[in-house]
This record gives sequence, C-alpha cells and structure tokens, in this order.
Amino acid sequence: MAELYSVPKLEDYSPAAMDAAVRDLLNALEQEAAKLSGENDWKAFRDRWMSRKSGVLMQITEWLKLAPKEQKRDVGQRVNEVKAKIEAAVDAAEARVNSQASSARLVSERVDVSLPGNRRPLGVKHPVLRVQDEIVAVFKAMGYSIGEGPEVESDYYNFESLNFPPNHPARDTQDTLFIAGQEKKQQRDRLLMRTHTSPVQIRTMEKQRPPVRIVIPGKVHRNDALDATHSPVFHQVEGLCVDTNITFSDLKGTLDHAFKSLFGSSVKTRFYPSFFPFTEPSADMQVSCIFCGGKGCRTCKFSGWIELLGCGMVDPNVFEFVKGNGYDPAKVSGFAFGMGVERIAILKYGVDEIAKFYLGDVRFLEQFA
Ligand code: PHE
Repeated sequence: MAELYSVPKLEDYSPAAMDAAVRDLLNALEQEAAKLSGENDWKAFRDRWMSRKSGVLMQITEWLKLAPKEQKRDVGQRVNEVKAKIEAAVDAAEARVNSQASSARLVSERVDVSLPGNRRPLGVKHPVLRVQDEIVAVFKAMGYSIGEGPEVESDYYNFESLNFPPNHPARDTQDTLFIAGQEKKQQRDRLLMRTHTSPVQIRTMEKQRPPVRIVIPGKVHRNDALDATHSPVFHQVEGLCVDTNITFSDLKGTLDHAFKSLFGSSVKTRFYPSFFPFTEPSADMQVSCIFCGGKGCRTCKFSGWIELLGCGMVDPNVFEFVKGNGYDPAKVSGFAFGMGVERIAILKYGVDEIAKFYLGDVRFLEQFA
C-alpha cells in the first residue's frame, strides 16, 4: 500500500515551493477520495483531513504560523483555498458514498411489481357444513329449534329406545363400531359410534316436555364401504315435531316446503312406504329429479325420482320410553325425519363422488368459495 500523505514541514515558503506543496496535498486528497467505498471509509477520510485535533487541515495552519512575515498573505490565501478544497472533497465524497449505498440497496431490495403479492387466502365454510346450515336454516324459519347430541352414544339411545330390541334384524342395517372392553356392561349401556342422529330424539324428549320442534345436525358412523355415494362417516339432519294432533299431512307439508326451499319451487315430493323401527307408518321421501325435472336421466336411474330421506310418524313404542315427561302416546303424536347432508350436497352441486368432500383437495373445495 502506498504511504499515506503526511503534511511536510516547510523550509521554503516561496510561491514556487508553496505551489509544489499545495499540489502534493491536493493530489493526495484526490487520490484518497477516489478510493473510498462505504460510510466507514468516508468517516475515516473526513477525520483524517478535517479532525480538529490532528486533521491535515489543522496541520497546515502550522504553515501559516511558521511562514515568514512577508509570505503570510500568500500562504494564508493558499491555506484558505486548500481548506475550501478539502471541505468540498469531503462533502462530495459523502454524497458519492451515500448514493452508492442507496443504489446498492436498490439492487438488493428491489421490488418486482410484476410478482404476485403475498396472498393470505381466507377459508370458507366446507360445502357439507354449508348445506347442513342451509337445511337447518329452512327449519329454523319454520320455528324449529336446533339441538345436538353426542357422537359416542349408548346402545340404549342409539337402538333400544328407538324400538330396536336386542337382536332385532333392523340393527344389521346400521352396523357400527363399538367401543372396546365393555363386555361387563349391560347391553343398553355399551358405547358405540352413533349410526344416526335419531338418538337425539329421545334425549330431547327426556329434557323437554311437548310440544317439540327441533332439528339436529351431526356426524354419524356406519360400517359401510366407501363407494361413490356412501361413506362410513357422514352427516345427517334429524327432525322431530311432537304436539297434539300432529298428522302425516303435517309431515308431508313440512318436508315439501323444506325441499322447495332447498331445491326450488318446481321440485315435487312423494312419499313411498318404508320401514324404520321408530316410526309407524314409515316412508322414504323422494324428490322429482332436479337434473331432468322428472323426465328420467342417469342420475335418477330413469325413474324421474330421487330418494332423499327417511321419515314417519313417531312410533307409540318410542313415546313409551319418555311417557313420564308428558309423552303419553294416547295424547301426543309427532313425526320425525332424517336426511343425509352429503346426499343433498351431491345433488345440489352435481358432485360425482362423496369422497371428494373429505379429501381436503383445495382445487375441489375452492369451487364452493
Ligand atoms: N334415522 C334414520 C336413518 O338414519 C332416518 C330416519 C329418521 C327415519 C327419522 C325416520 C325418522 O336411516
């Protein structure tokens, strides 16, 4: 490294000697200024040339002090010129260093306005829950309240009190998972994953005297293999209406209204004889095919109708289990229904496989946003 300039002691203060001394100094100033990079360099440069204690500028005032009288004027002028040049060089160097720093920042921090922004996508309600809420809202508008019950249920609520006696073959249609290690318990106390939302009918009637109008949404479990339309876990909305003089026409009118609300007023409903241990008579409700309007298509298997839910008049044997709470089968009557939420969602949205609801694939789900 070249040696740094240091201020010489002058012997000769003649104009020619001063010219040479000033030239050396300004050369050194220019060369040092040219090498600066970064703020720290600049600070060192500034201090070296301008520090009040020992800066070059300070030192050349010695020239003035030591100059012979007759040269003082000339030397003083030169010192002033040099001072102005040093100050200008330090200022210029500062400006240069700052602009280098900011252009370096611009390179490293540059904003590419063509990049997509930071998106924080908001989630939306899952289509199954959305349809579940829509169904519930239709009944809420008719004055129904909303209830819930446990997913792990006892044999008593899931089967026995719903008039499925032990070993009754109707239990086979609703096979499910039992909680292990309950052999010592009486059958009615054994726990299982509920196969339908109907146990909440009894739970509601145990707590609330008639009249009752309630819908119960929830998850249910069955030993069903997964296929295009069945899943071992799915959702139901149960309904129960009990009062004096409730008839089958109340059931028909209520469900007809509900499905016109859900699928549009041109939809027709019909009731087909069926069997459930806890309703008598029992029916399957069908809606006119929402795809072909009833003409017949692949979805409705060319029948014009689609089966949507199970329903019926509450079996007097069911009321017997809650008779003490005001449900004397001689005095009250009622209807109940239970529908699969996924099944309705499949029809509403034209989904081809029930499993798509559960895969969590955003490409599928975001269509419902
Ligand atoms: N719980 C029945 C099922 O899951 C549906 C149903 C509910 C039928 C209420 C009649 C009355 O298949």
